[in-house]
Amino acid sequence: MQRRHLIQAASLAAIALAMPLAHAQGNTFKIGLVLPMTGQQATTGRQIEAAARLYMAQNGDTVAGKKIELIIKDDTSLPDVTKRLAQELVVNDKVNVLAGFGITPSAMATAPIATQSKTPMVVMAAATSSITEASPYIVRTSFTLPQVSVAMGDWAPKNGIKSVVTLVTDYGPGNDAEKYFKERFQLNGGKVVDSLRVPLRNPDFAPFLQKVRDAKPDALFVFVPSGAGAAVMKQFIERGMDKAGIKMIATGDVTDDDQLNDMGDGALGVVTTHHYSAAHPSALNKKYVEAFQKANKNMRPNFMAMGGYDGMRVIYEALKATKGQGGGDALLAAMKGQIFESPRGQVLIDAQTRDIVQDVYLRKVEKKDGQLYNVEFDVIKAVKDPGKAK
Ligand code: DHB
Repeated sequence: MQRRHLIQAASLAAIALAMPLAHAQGNTFKIGLVLPMTGQQATTGRQIEAAARLYMAQNGDTVAGKKIELIIKDDTSLPDVTKRLAQELVVNDKVNVLAGFGITPSAMATAPIATQSKTPMVVMAAATSSITEASPYIVRTSFTLPQVSVAMGDWAPKNGIKSVVTLVTDYGPGNDAEKYFKERFQLNGGKVVDSLRVPLRNPDFAPFLQKVRDAKPDALFVFVPSGAGAAVMKQFIERGMDKAGIKMIATGDVTDDDQLNDMGDGALGVVTTHHYSAAHPSALNKKYVEAFQKANKNMRPNFMAMGGYDGMRVIYEALKATKGQGGGDALLAAMKGQIFESPRGQVLIDAQTRDIVQDVYLRKVEKKDGQLYNVEFDVIKAVKDPGKAK
């Protein structure tokens, strides 16, 4: 432990020493994008990379006289690796902005680097409420689990669901989803019969689903991270849960647009709450989805891509506002308070919390033109992260 602390202290000192040199890169502006490009969360990296490249293709790679350089690093979703890569990006590459962060532990591990080096850190994926509190240099363009889970805690009891078992992945976002769904659902008179947690690495859902079947609740509320939804859905259907009268309700991470169309008709009717659907019926979203699919054959943009695309927007606009002259603090200031129409709807980067304020949608899996989509049927406007009030 002591050795580890020494090494950490030494690397933070290295960052401090590198500071005067940092951000002095003449005519280039470097964005260090740290993502899981391989391993269990690889779809997150693939989606965000595609979206970031699309944003650059559409908006040019020169902003305020600076040539934008995107440096992509694969952290394989291991937080120690994320941290090391972020440190190298700051010290060696002298990036102006850190971005990406596929899972909460990766974002948390990197937060001290952002603080020490005064580098804005744009979290495009990870969604545990507390992340933005881990460093004053963090700005988030994804979402938070409390934001979307509270909406389900309101919807379910009004729609005949009185008893629920919760099933979440056992780490930050899952714990947030469980807590915020449960609190709101119980406040509305619902009963949570059991709360089950599955491990993040190599989860086997079968034994948990067997427990749910035995408990016979009206519904099973699920959160699993992007990429794991298809496995839960498959086992839910195989075990005949729906036929046993148990509905599935979930956050939109489960009916992920990246995988939804391959889940089969068993997914039809599943109601979820989330901030982005590829089927969002705005003109801007239609254009966005069309451009994304033209640039990336056989890929449908999911909520991760949305966080990446808007994250690039936030960085570009901050660079413009600071006329290419800003260091970390000026860029950060220019990120705070940005308000714009995103393909997902109207969004705001709250200047106080640096977290995203956005619309949350109720959606149901339906077939449209022979394909499965999350079709929106209701909206809660301008939702702030409920986790921040506590
Ligand atoms: C996180 C990761 C996900 O893939 C997701 O869908 C939601 C949250 C996270 O680790 O924060």
